[in-house]
Amino acid sequence: MSIVYLNGKFLPIEQATVPVMDRGFIFGDGVYEVIPVYGGRLFRLEQHLERLARSLAEIRLADPLSPAEWRRCLQEVVSRNAHGDQSVYVQITRGAAPRDHAFPKDVQPTVFIASSPLKSLPAELAEHGVAAITLQDIRWQRCDIKAITLLANILLRQQAVDHGAVEAILVRDGLANEGTASNLFIVKNGVLVTPPKGSYLLPGITRDLILELAAVQDIPHREACISVTELESADEVWLTSSTREILPVTELDGRRVGNGKPGLMWRRMMAVYQDYKQLVRERGEAPAQ
Ligand code: PDD
Repeated sequence: MSIVYLNGKFLPIEQATVPVMDRGFIFGDGVYEVIPVYGGRLFRLEQHLERLARSLAEIRLADPLSPAEWRRCLQEVVSRNAHGDQSVYVQITRGAAPRDHAFPKDVQPTVFIASSPLKSLPAELAEHGVAAITLQDIRWQRCDIKAITLLANILLRQQAVDHGAVEAILVRDGLANEGTASNLFIVKNGVLVTPPKGSYLLPGITRDLILELAAVQDIPHREACISVTELESADEVWLTSSTREILPVTELDGRRVGNGKPGLMWRRMMAVYQDYKQLVRERGEAPAQ
């Protein structure tokens, strides 16, 4: 049975309820995190907590828990759901209040933590990669905040699925910034490139780890804007996230990427990433090496 944390209590998910006037339900007024767990260890926890604190600050919602309390509650959810690798979902909303767009006064935020099994990626993926399409980014101007308000992402992702693709790469002003739930990397002439952080993309934890690993491995890499033309002529295209790790895109808008197979640089980075995960499983978090 899945045990969740809700507002100070650990309880079976079936018993966890929130008032219908919760601003998460009414307005999508909240932020979230998704943290992978390997061998019972919360992966890149410090980085996820830092991003959560930043998202909360950006929406002007006081952090309801101290870093120590976050660590304790998250670890408790992990231990109470001891089923292999996990994906931990954390959501904080501005709480329940009569419907009014402006912030309510003296309202307790709603804090929710849940865990679900983290499925490993299908093996055929390493052989074939995935298909993606490009779409105009119809989201807002603060994509750097990990907001629960995801309607645009949902519509864009569904459009990709309707086209037989797994992800949409979002384009704004001729630049490809990220996927609907993933960051973007390309490889061109042996150099790994990802767009710089800014308000049109989420500062992904997996993205940062890949840059860290690339530095340690002496893989040439840089943070630079990626035009649609550069995306279309890339040797490799990857999409990265906490739950899907590093997805090689082998078909973009119906055309082959590179030779149509997951690339050599992807294979190398995937091996380095898996080694790092294994170290975390065994010894806990340490700087990439
Ligand atoms: N999404 N960009 C967007 C818009 C995302 O929603 C995500 C993650 C990422 C990758 O970030 P990270 O490496 O920190 O997971 C980039 C999560 C997994 C989700 O919404 O389920």
